[in-house]
Amino acid sequence: MSLIKSIALLALVAFAAGQVQIKTKAKIPKKIQTAVAPQIGSREVCGDQYLTGTGGSIISPNYPDGYDNDVSCGWFLTAENGNRIAIIVHDLDTEESYDVLTVLDGVTGESPILIQLSGKASNLAVLSNEASIFVGFTSDFSNNAPGFNCSWTQVNPQENLELFGL
Ligand SMILES: *[C@@H]1O[C@H](CO)[C@@H](O)[C@H](O)[C@H]1NC(C)=O
Repeated sequence: MSLIKSIALLALVAFAAGQVQIKTKAKIPKKIQTAVAPQIGSREVCGDQYLTGTGGSIISPNYPDGYDNDVSCGWFLTAENGNRIAIIVHDLDTEESYDVLTVLDGVTGESPILIQLSGKASNLAVLSNEASIFVGFTSDFSNNAPGFNCSWTQVNPQENLELFGL
């Protein structure tokens, strides 16, 4: 995929998440408008979670009141029909370099890293190449912070790029 197409797609994904206003004459299809599912959250839960479907939320434990030290959380996400997955980082605030959110493009130990974040970030979107991906969060033994609020949504790149005439 060309850089322009990637940017257009990420802009669409961010728009779908209600975070970024973009100017386009293209209509956002209903499927995308509703793709960000209601909060399913991860409050109080920090084990491995297997989530399948069109989308949902990935939120650090106790957000925004602060995660605990020494946590290790994992979410395995699978989109329907082989679609790809966009992770939208609405807000992230963790201890820089030590409490880290990692998104892998796949679900194995060899899967490449799509993005790794710590410190502060907001309104970011990344798009997977795979239909199943892993999102992990680890904190170290000291210091904590509000955590993160992300959502995921499945994306059919073919369908969406056509909207931009690409
Ligand atoms: C996460 O961010 C979204 C988009 O800003 C917002 O609608 C949602 O309420 C937030 N969730 C939490 C738990 O703060």
